[in-house]
Amino acid sequence: MQPPQNRSLDKLSSYQPAIVAKYFDELGIREWERLTQTPADEVSLAIHTHYLKEYLSNSDRVLEIGAGAGRFTQVLANLGTKIVVADISSGQLELNKSLAVEHGFEDSVEDWQQTDICDLSGFEAESFDVVVAYGGAFSYVLDKRDLALQESLRVIKPGGMLFLSVMSIWGTVHRYLDGVLALPSAINQKITESGDISPTTFPARQDNFMHLFRATELRQWLEQTGVKVVQLSASNCLSLLWDRQLEKIKQDREKWNELLRMEIEACADEGSLNMGTHIIAVARKP
Ligand SMILES: C[S@@+](CC[C@H](N)C(=O)[O-])C[C@H]1O[C@@H](n2cnc3c(N)ncnc32)[C@H](O)[C@@H]1O
Repeated sequence: MQPPQNRSLDKLSSYQPAIVAKYFDELGIREWERLTQTPADEVSLAIHTHYLKEYLSNSDRVLEIGAGAGRFTQVLANLGTKIVVADISSGQLELNKSLAVEHGFEDSVEDWQQTDICDLSGFEAESFDVVVAYGGAFSYVLDKRDLALQESLRVIKPGGMLFLSVMSIWGTVHRYLDGVLALPSAINQKITESGDISPTTFPARQDNFMHLFRATELRQWLEQTGVKVVQLSASNCLSLLWDRQLEKIKQDREKWNELLRMEIEACADEGSLNMGTHIIAVARKP
């Protein structure tokens, strides 16, 4: 089987920044709520946070790109880092700023800048210890993901780190199987073959286009740039389809913590990497 990035359909899906910005402008405050709405969302927040806690130090200067309303800006601030917040959506940037003030973490933010991850020319080379792009910025840029990765690595200091999470093709099928099987199979096959939800593979869709990764594809894509992939993890696998039961488990601190302990280990197991809606990667620039 050909690696997904070499397949012909992949070339036809082109990134349109205005559509992405409009989509997230309109989503508004729902972006702040996206990781706290259900217990499975909270597990996702905990797994993403776990890796920031494990690798970041409080002296780090961080570029958070695709920061959205700021759930992880708050985490980064709590870890003592200094953050430049960037996003393609002016609406999300405004929300990020007002939520930082409301929750008292605005002093940790050096600046808020409307920026496309494909063009970080506003930032000097090697000026950040860390780039964080959680929540799919590398998925939303479709065919421009190589450029986005090149730009992100350019602004990281040697020895610095990149944290990202992208959408997962099989994890999304796992989570939304009903909806996936409701699509005509010809469309489905184009999406699963290319990993792209784009005007080419799904003409009826108007926005929220993205590239969904396989774990092996993500690893190869990162490694071909010379970075060391220090961690891959699904987000999430064990808890993904158990929301109703988890509401009760959440009330029992001990059980909830045990779930999180198992999730962190299970999600990092090679056999689970494709089973969450997202795949997290932590990479170190040489
Ligand atoms: C799903 S939200 C995630 C927000 C936040 N990082 C989180 O994980 O909760 C994706 C964010 O990425 C931003 N985004 C999408 N494409 C981008 C691009 N090309 N450059 C910068 N930001 C982008 C969107 O505007 C949105 O705020």
